[in-house]
Amino acid sequence: MYQPEPFKIKMVEPIRLLDRPAREKCLVEAGYNPFLLRSDQVYIDLLTDSGTGAMSDRQWAGLLLGDEAYAGSRNFYHLEETVQELTGYRYVLPTHQGRGAEQIIIPYLVRSRGGKYVVGNMHFDTTKAHIELAGARAVNFITPEALDTTTEYPFKGNFDLQAMERFIQEEGAASVAAIVATVTCNSVGGQPVAMANLRGAYALGRKYGIPVIIDSARFAENAYFIKQREAGYSARSITEIVREMFSYGDVLTMSAKKDGLVNIGGLLAIKEDEELFRACQALIVPYEGFPTYGGLAGRDMEALAIGLKEVVQEDYLRQRIGQVQFLGEQLKAAGIPVQSPIGGHAVFVDVGRILPHVPKTNYPAHAFAVALYLESGIRAVEIGSLLYGRDPQTGEDGLAALELLRLTIPRRTYTDNHMRYIADSVIRVCAQKDRIKGVAFEYEPPILRHFTARFRLVD
Ligand code: F0G
Repeated sequence: MYQPEPFKIKMVEPIRLLDRPAREKCLVEAGYNPFLLRSDQVYIDLLTDSGTGAMSDRQWAGLLLGDEAYAGSRNFYHLEETVQELTGYRYVLPTHQGRGAEQIIIPYLVRSRGGKYVVGNMHFDTTKAHIELAGARAVNFITPEALDTTTEYPFKGNFDLQAMERFIQEEGAASVAAIVATVTCNSVGGQPVAMANLRGAYALGRKYGIPVIIDSARFAENAYFIKQREAGYSARSITEIVREMFSYGDVLTMSAKKDGLVNIGGLLAIKEDEELFRACQALIVPYEGFPTYGGLAGRDMEALAIGLKEVVQEDYLRQRIGQVQFLGEQLKAAGIPVQSPIGGHAVFVDVGRILPHVPKTNYPAHAFAVALYLESGIRAVEIGSLLYGRDPQTGEDGLAALELLRLTIPRRTYTDNHMRYIADSVIRVCAQKDRIKGVAFEYEPPILRHFTARFRLVD
């Protein structure tokens, strides 16, 4: 039976759709880069699901219980207990967000193990950046089905375990500093990793003596997919599934801005290795802050402790994943190619297949994002050759396997009517696809170019 939202709205934030001439002017001022738009110029903001969700009344009430002691805040202990119970990990360090945890653990493991590589299903950008900053190489072993948006494979976030094991054998286990399992796998479309696959990755870690890090930004969404899709899990509770998932890791990093249901925050937790914990605890101080606050206010830690309990409630997850699916299904019904099955936090439109006439070096998915803003005031984000960047050695461009547009849905923020408007707008832009010719750089920054680049329209 149809299940509506398991919440009602207590406070609203007005949003406004500028008229088309105003939107056109905003685009010119922003150099045709949606990242450079002011949020007030955006009607529906689908740039990210990170830190953009709505907190519950319980979380807002929690803010007033903030204990802003420099050391030993009571909110830290509440958070610590919550994380221990949820994950089974003994040692918990708060960080200001996900990359705060990455900047501690990744360089430490690369340095202390002397590894040349960090392998994963598909590393998120900041994880890859920290691996490279530490002097190692990020290598992905994603299941091949993930790169074909048309196959309905239930676990497109899976590792290609055989290819990963071959690599470990060829390069030698000592050259691999860590295995990173990203759940769900953001970079291939918010696709889940199966429990069996996580178990397999952990078994490889054990066999070759390589620590496994779970990048758990969207752990609860992953657990929900396991419950829905993997044999043997339909009768298990989300909390049981989460607990088992984390049992297949040694360390977790978490951007709590996603499934922590907060606007800022992160976690680094270690299952049982006391020596590793001591090393991370020492590093947290200069990078993030004293180990009982790690860059967060006491009130932030309280809101996070509460958010971590809310996110594993099944009615919450049913509506969350259901809303993203509701959007995706409308696009599919209109014949628009999207990563299938629909992922957890976003619908990924396969713009490469909609605009085959636009060369990859004119960034088709970015050009689509520009057209979508002009048409509807919606801000979405390119996940394709623009984001991928140039080959550092050859300077070659246009290298991403897929040219995707990410319609990222913030949690508990927009209604199903907003989803209908988004679907209608994407369908309208597709109807004018022949008019989209791509974009070219006016200014190309040397690194992380997509954030600050400026463009002109190709005609
Ligand atoms: N890992 C994953 C899988 C992520 O998706 C992100 C952030 C991070 C780590 C880094 O966490 O932002 O808290 O420092 N993803 C956001 C996104 C930014 O839009 O997908 P952070």
